[in-house]
Amino acid sequence: MKIARYLMRNTALVNIPKQIERFSKYSPSPLSMKQFLDFGSANACEKTSFVFLRQELPVRLANIMKEVDFLPDKMLCTPSLQLLQSWYAQSLMEIVEFQEKNPDDGKVLSNFTEALVNIRNRHNNVIPTMAQGVIEYKESFGVDPVTNQNVQYFLDRFYMSRISIRMLINQHTLIFEGSRNPAHPKHIGSIDPNCDVVEVVKDACESSKMLCDQYYLASPEVIIKQVKAKAVGQPLHIVYVPSHLYHMLFELFKNAMRATVETHESSPSLPPIEVMVSLGDEDLTIKMLDRGGGVPLRKIDRLFSYMYSTAPRPVMDNSSNAPLAGFGYGLPISRLYAKYFQGDLQLYSMEGYGTSAVIYLKALSTESVERLPVFNKSAWRHYQTSIEADDWCIPSKEPKKLGKYDVNV
Ligand SMILES: Nc1ncnc2c1ncn2[C@@H]1O[C@H](COP(=O)(O)OP(=O)(O)O)[C@@H](O)[C@H]1O
Ligand SMILES: [Mg+2]
Repeated sequence: MKIARYLMRNTALVNIPKQIERFSKYSPSPLSMKQFLDFGSANACEKTSFVFLRQELPVRLANIMKEVDFLPDKMLCTPSLQLLQSWYAQSLMEIVEFQEKNPDDGKVLSNFTEALVNIRNRHNNVIPTMAQGVIEYKESFGVDPVTNQNVQYFLDRFYMSRISIRMLINQHTLIFEGSRNPAHPKHIGSIDPNCDVVEVVKDACESSKMLCDQYYLASPEVIIKQVKAKAVGQPLHIVYVPSHLYHMLFELFKNAMRATVETHESSPSLPPIEVMVSLGDEDLTIKMLDRGGGVPLRKIDRLFSYMYSTAPRPVMDNSSNAPLAGFGYGLPISRLYAKYFQGDLQLYSMEGYGTSAVIYLKALSTESVERLPVFNKSAWRHYQTSIEADDWCIPSKEPKKLGKYDVNV
């Protein structure tokens, strides 16, 4: 196993390959919103949660660690990827230590919570570190379509796995640390059983406006319309994780505002951004329309690509003067948040005019179930396929000349 390279230098982790094999034999167990709520309800049981997590967290870690090996060798060799793998190995081992511990021992439970907090902190910089690895690879070896396809497939799964692991850790630590969030006493961990979607839209809008004003000394007006609610005049509520929704909306607002300001630099006024929110029987849909000049269809896929992202090196610190663009991961990561509970995020653009970004979420909590990658044969096969020879003609650059009376039909 490639993972052995850095293990040779760290004898405490020699057991790792065995543990990865052991836990990757299990498939992750996706939880529904209802199960998350039950875990945190009045009769929440720390012991049950502990027993579940000491098995489920290693399973999720091991499943994704198996896939890391499918990255190109030259990417695995980068210092960033070596560092990342050491974090995953360390965290896996720290949880495995609890396998034989007694759930009835209060000290064990508090040690476990402490371990989870440590693990969460250790993994704080996973995204910029991974981005760094991709950039290092790109600088040395360039990008080709097969590598791009494999890296895209892997990173979507890797980051989804990370979102899910952090969700599990957050729920356990928030619910059993004994300190209910005083600002949100009705939240169950990070879930708001009555998430007021329009409120979250307004919050994300305010933060983005502040950044935009700071950076460009102007920002477009934002018009928020609740186009359809279950009951007229009532707020739109769903069971959701407000921080996830905020993350997606903040990214979309930053993009829309930046595009609007930059394409209308020389106009006397900025066209507004419109946001529409609608709750149906199945979907809660949020559509954000800007008139920021749009993106040609050919480039839309690339906006979600981790490798083709044109952004410069990521900045590791949370500098207070963060500009409106990051390292090009705003859209792909936001789409993962939407997909995590069976939703989606799509962009529709009219080049020359503007863009609509649409977030789809499940209206019913019974349908909001975690969407998790599993390491199996079909995942393995995915990495083995190279891009098939195209079965459509490639348009030739030189159009065939027609004679004067040839009919071009
Ligand atoms: N609403 C939009 N209008 C025009 N271009 C957009 C819009 N949203 C995204 N883009 C383009 O997509 C790119 C990628 O967006 P994103 O993933 O958020 O990364 P970043 O904003 O860090 O560059 C942006 O740099 C921008 O060129
Ligand atoms: Mg962005």
